Amino acid sequence: MQAQETLEWQALQRHFDDQGAAFDLREAFASDAQRFAEFSQEAPHVFADLSRNLIDAPTEALLMALAQARGLKAQRDAMFAGQPINATEGRAVLHTLLRAPERIDGPDPLAHQRAQVHATLQAMLSFAERVRADRAITDVVNIGIGGSDLGPQMAVLALQDPAQAGPRLHFVSNVDGHELAALLPQLQANSTLFVVASKTFTTIETLTNAHSARDWFLAQGGRDVARHFVALTTNVAAAAEFGISNTFGFWDWVGGRYSLWSAIGLPLAIAIGAQGFQALLSGAHAMDEHFRTAPLARNLPVRLGLLDVWYRNFHGFASRSVAPYHSGLRRLPAYLQQLEMESNGKRVDMQGQHVAFQTSPVLWGEPGTNGQHAFFQMLHQGTQVTPVEFVGVVEPSHRLPGHHRLLLANLLAQAQALMVGRTDAGGHRHFPGNRPSTLLMLQRLDPTSLGALIALQEHRVFTSGAIWGINSFDQWGVELGKVLARDIEQRLATGQVDGLDPATAAWVQRLAS
Ligand code: F6P
Repeated sequence: MQAQETLEWQALQRHFDDQGAAFDLREAFASDAQRFAEFSQEAPHVFADLSRNLIDAPTEALLMALAQARGLKAQRDAMFAGQPINATEGRAVLHTLLRAPERIDGPDPLAHQRAQVHATLQAMLSFAERVRADRAITDVVNIGIGGSDLGPQMAVLALQDPAQAGPRLHFVSNVDGHELAALLPQLQANSTLFVVASKTFTTIETLTNAHSARDWFLAQGGRDVARHFVALTTNVAAAAEFGISNTFGFWDWVGGRYSLWSAIGLPLAIAIGAQGFQALLSGAHAMDEHFRTAPLARNLPVRLGLLDVWYRNFHGFASRSVAPYHSGLRRLPAYLQQLEMESNGKRVDMQGQHVAFQTSPVLWGEPGTNGQHAFFQMLHQGTQVTPVEFVGVVEPSHRLPGHHRLLLANLLAQAQALMVGRTDAGGHRHFPGNRPSTLLMLQRLDPTSLGALIALQEHRVFTSGAIWGINSFDQWGVELGKVLARDIEQRLATGQVDGLDPATAAWVQRLAS
């Protein structure tokens, strides 16, 4: 049965038609003195304020009933238990095991995988520590794309202490040679470590960059490929064929966009050290435990995921804007784009049937306050309503206190302006208000809180995907472009256009060399 066929979905639709569509945040606060307390909550390492969302207790109760009807708990438990919930690829989904303790009390059905995880983690972390201590390595270049780039890059930017000694970290993802070409002149072959990160070790962008990096290394007189290239992959054989003997593995039950916690985290471990990486894992694990055990009504990932459903399917909001008020989180929107849109950008359900409702919102954003001077105009006065998710940090890691007060004041002002609006002025100066936002507040941006924040996002995406009944863990939608690009690359070399559609043929003729 699809979600929209359930009585619970239909009850939500009636509730939306009767009250939800006309819900007014200002009235909701005026009539309920406890609203902030009721719609905010602590979760591990994250304080969440949901009070400025277009929900009330009856709405949440109906959403919880929908979650029950869709078997959210059973779906969640199946994931944690390692059942093959990624049905289209016949795989388990066990990124939570990557941050779980080494031993648990009682029988452990996942003992084998758990032992593999910890053996690899220990090896990866001691390698990271060796690299950090190796004064001869001044630069580490991560070559990877998608999940093999976005997670480590986002986290290194968030957590690396620029004052700390250690190698410089660089990230090359794009097949566009401008990236690698701009970086190589800054490097010395004998002091650079290249990390080739690819779950499959078949991704054309990564292999092209890795080949060019190796060619450059050899051309610079580099000799010891074994010392200067390391691979992070599930495909150890392909890495060996490339000539990389030093490999840290992971497993097909780790999705690319869920792989930060695996060997793919090596650049982050080099940047922040083994202890920092363990803290990231512990923060994520604390959020896993919250998701696994908290009652649905006080379960933050569940509440956020259900809110996403409410907005996407009943209010019809097409996108969500994420606004991190910490420049260290400047790649968070890009990271979350892959997490949300590659996971839930699906139009068929688990059985392959078209779904009769909308799925993934478009996710986009920029750090505050920059976004305020770019697109917030539309958020405040545009014709579409876009829920905003603010991420704030109580304590900065710099010593410019005036800046941070101003930053936090801006965050609060934006959330306030979205909600309260400005109704005493007309025309161009009128702000309708009643525009929803969520505020996720961390005490400080450190490995533990970042781990918790990311795990929270993973599980909220899981929640909406589970309600929709789609497979959040495959990504067939990226395959067609890859196949076509290979064909077009050949044609650009030969000028051959037979069988092409007219637009592509015209371009091949223009660009063929
Ligand atoms: O673009 C699809 C995708 O498979 C992502 O899911 C993945 O994160 C990325 O490509 C990189 O894949 P790999 O790590 O196998 O190189």
